[in-house]
Amino acid sequence: MKTIKAQLIDSLKRLPVSSDKVAVEYPIKSSHGDYSTNIAMVTAKEMKKNPMDLANEFISALENDGFVSETFDKVEAVKPGFINFHFKKEALQNILGVIVDEGDSFGRTGVGSGKRVVVDYSSPNIAKQMHVGHLRSTVIGHALCNVYSYLGYEVVGDNHLGDWGTKFGALIAMYRERYGDTIQNDISIDTMEQMYVEFTAKSKEDEHLKERARAELKQLQEGSDFHVKLWKLFRQRSIDEIMSKIYSRLGISFDYMYGEAFFYDLPAVREVYGEESSIYTDGVVKDALGKGISKRSDDAFIIDLESCNLPPLLIEKSDGGHLYSTSDLAAIHFRKSKFDPDIVLYVVGSEQALHFKQVFASAKLLGYINEDDDGWAHVPFGLVLGDDGKKVSTRDGGIVYAHQFIDKSLEIAYDIVNEKQPEWSEDKKREVAQAVGMGALKYNDLSRDRTSNITFDWDAMMNFGGASAPYLQYTYARIQSIFSKEPPDSLQKADYTLLNESKELVLIKVLQKFPEVLEEVVAYNKPNVLTNYLESLSGAFHSFYESVQVLVEDSDLRHARLLLIGSVGVVMKNGLNLLGIEVLDRI
Ligand code: ARG
Repeated sequence: MKTIKAQLIDSLKRLPVSSDKVAVEYPIKSSHGDYSTNIAMVTAKEMKKNPMDLANEFISALENDGFVSETFDKVEAVKPGFINFHFKKEALQNILGVIVDEGDSFGRTGVGSGKRVVVDYSSPNIAKQMHVGHLRSTVIGHALCNVYSYLGYEVVGDNHLGDWGTKFGALIAMYRERYGDTIQNDISIDTMEQMYVEFTAKSKEDEHLKERARAELKQLQEGSDFHVKLWKLFRQRSIDEIMSKIYSRLGISFDYMYGEAFFYDLPAVREVYGEESSIYTDGVVKDALGKGISKRSDDAFIIDLESCNLPPLLIEKSDGGHLYSTSDLAAIHFRKSKFDPDIVLYVVGSEQALHFKQVFASAKLLGYINEDDDGWAHVPFGLVLGDDGKKVSTRDGGIVYAHQFIDKSLEIAYDIVNEKQPEWSEDKKREVAQAVGMGALKYNDLSRDRTSNITFDWDAMMNFGGASAPYLQYTYARIQSIFSKEPPDSLQKADYTLLNESKELVLIKVLQKFPEVLEEVVAYNKPNVLTNYLESLSGAFHSFYESVQVLVEDSDLRHARLLLIGSVGVVMKNGLNLLGIEVLDRI
């Protein structure tokens, strides 16, 4: 169902106005109504009319609009020319009926139907532990996938693993020093990481070692049996470990994992992926030369982006090797041909902003995407900072890896649960600690504007008193406990026209906003729009619950009020689930 805001916009577009100027806002003061538009002011300028007069003309015309007259009982012109809309009580009460009917589907507005979105997220580099920065991409990307999909978009989640590069030559060289030509099937990410650190240190002085790494890479590219086996082993062990330490604990999975390697036309790669790409990195370089947009610079090739006011993009190194940028260009070609998406989101740290500008501009020059296609977007996010305000790094000996943050969240959550509910079984404690711990971790990230840097303030994250996942989970559980005393079927027939108290109507107004909030999340790709909303919903619920008695003698009124708080529970659950956060009936 279309949102009320969208229906109001439709009504306004039927006025004699240019439809691209129609905008609807939420007034900050409730005395200014529930929606407001400045359409009379922007149109008056063009028509050289008095804005107040025009606002009144529009209001008269809107009297004949079915939707407006059914939904609002007061539509007024306010200086200098705003039109404010105030909800009709009946229209608000009816929203509860919609929530009861739609339940878990309330908020599925269908705006995205017929549109496909590819979300490139998580995308860690393998053969090393996942850093906390990639945890942000994972959590934000997952929440966005959920919201898009809920709104009717067809969502393709793609993990663009960093599973290729010169690094693998170095790793194989170090591996052979340690293990010779035997295959160590149980090799861990930590060992791979150590080997690479060792390589970096040793190769500073040892030219010979660098030479060997290059030779090993060459053999891997040529498809030497042993080398391919090793690369596959590094890759698979990394994926298995990341799955078990990160993704499964976060409850996240992907539709595809087309890593960088997929875009290299090599036998080893085909063996692993078992699928062809629409183009490979060498095809990208060939296309760039063919289009006359690539220049040789020394022995390397670059795409000249001067016409776009951007620095050139290196696509082939002087040793003939291809890069991150080359495989990203191939990935654009492939995504376009396989998914023909309307929107493609790259959930990647802000530090890669220039890379994406260059890659999108190059893809347009290459003709892989249309010049006017603005569906390809970098969705940047800030850094994770330590307590000292600096980017977390291995140097301070603090925790830096994604799995350590997950471990710590689970530990703290377990201690809290253990203290609150000592009599619970071990299994129950673990289950609740999982929901609370992972909820707190995700919420800490999702509740900040993604472009800002974040810190891990463990006390605030786990605070059952406010602005945290545990607080919202607790609100939900509290609602469920109020319910547990009443048979649920008695609520089906509840008469919501009995809800006339102002606190009740205010709460319904907040509930009604939920579908509009979800559309706002995808308009800006900002999950914190939803967290802010859930906090205001929880605030409105508590303020209602403190001043209005729910379990009153009169069973009709009691049922109506239970229905109201039940609806708060439904929306709270839908909202938290979309953020990837579980709810519990008891905490
Ligand atoms: N693996 C990359 C990194 O860690 C991120 C990849 C993001 N996706 C992309 N298509 N470039 O820096």
